[in-house]
Amino acid sequence: MISLRERSARVIAVTSGKGGVGKTNISVNLSVALARLGKDAMLVDGDMGMANANILLGMNATTTIADVLARDCGLEDVVQQGLSGVRIVPGHSGSGILPGLDRNDRRRLAEAFRPYAGKLDHIIVDTASGIYPEAMELVASSDMILVVLSAEPTAFMDAYALVKVLSLDHGCNAVSVVTNMVEDETSGRALFQHFSEVVRRFLPIRLSHLGSVPRDDHVRESVFRKRCCLEAYPDSRASAAFTRIARVVADAELPATEGGDRFFGMEVLHGAC
Ligand SMILES: Nc1ncnc2c1ncn2[C@@H]1O[C@H](COP(=O)(O)OP(=O)(O)OP(=O)(O)O)[C@@H](O)[C@H]1O
Ligand SMILES: [Mg+2]
Repeated sequence: MISLRERSARVIAVTSGKGGVGKTNISVNLSVALARLGKDAMLVDGDMGMANANILLGMNATTTIADVLARDCGLEDVVQQGLSGVRIVPGHSGSGILPGLDRNDRRRLAEAFRPYAGKLDHIIVDTASGIYPEAMELVASSDMILVVLSAEPTAFMDAYALVKVLSLDHGCNAVSVVTNMVEDETSGRALFQHFSEVVRRFLPIRLSHLGSVPRDDHVRESVFRKRCCLEAYPDSRASAAFTRIARVVADAELPATEGGDRFFGMEVLHGAC
């Protein structure tokens, strides 16, 4: 068992209501940016059907988180060393992993991650979009819930639905927002303000704005090149934004929250040892 105080790793779950709003690109680039700021960062691909975070880093995955769940190997056999020292836990493509986790699976993952709990600064989990109860439980047990919000009306509504479920069904009282694919910082801030006003009117949850990533074709280009934007286009506007957001995350005073019997709360799993 590791106590909350001993856990240095802060888990950041990157989520969204609507798909395709930029979660994977933000997860990958944020992880690399944190590593470049000297942080010990681990990127966990927690997407269910379309695990692809490792592809953006040009890495092949022979073993994945699914092998850990199947007890075929330990997490140390799956973790790969990526760009700038970021550790990558590849996900499994083709079947629903995280949303379908039962209590024993979650226990297994908690055990697997626990050795890293006192070693790392940040564990960034790229999740699948959509509001699945089990996936939401995992997201709710992280230390920082990072909701990616883009300006399309459907994304706005879906982000509201997501925050509503996190607040009312899972008792979350704080969410951090990254506005993506916006014109510039000013329009990103305006989008956040609008979202925050709507949320504040109806839900008892605190929202904070970590920053914006502009719409920048370099992001898309880097995906085609199977590289992350920070590496392929370090001088792009998007790369500058990823680094800015990483600084905000690195400087945030983020207390470790109890995860209960959910996997991200590595330290408090009853009967897991
Ligand atoms: N800031 C940006 N500027 C331009 N294009 C972007 C930006 N962010 C993401 N994209 C593009 O949007 C598409 C979706 O991005 P990404 O795969 O990161 O989204 P996602 O939320 O992880 O999607 P999914 O829900 O399918 O997992 C990609 O083609 C990506 O290149
Ligand atoms: Mg994705």
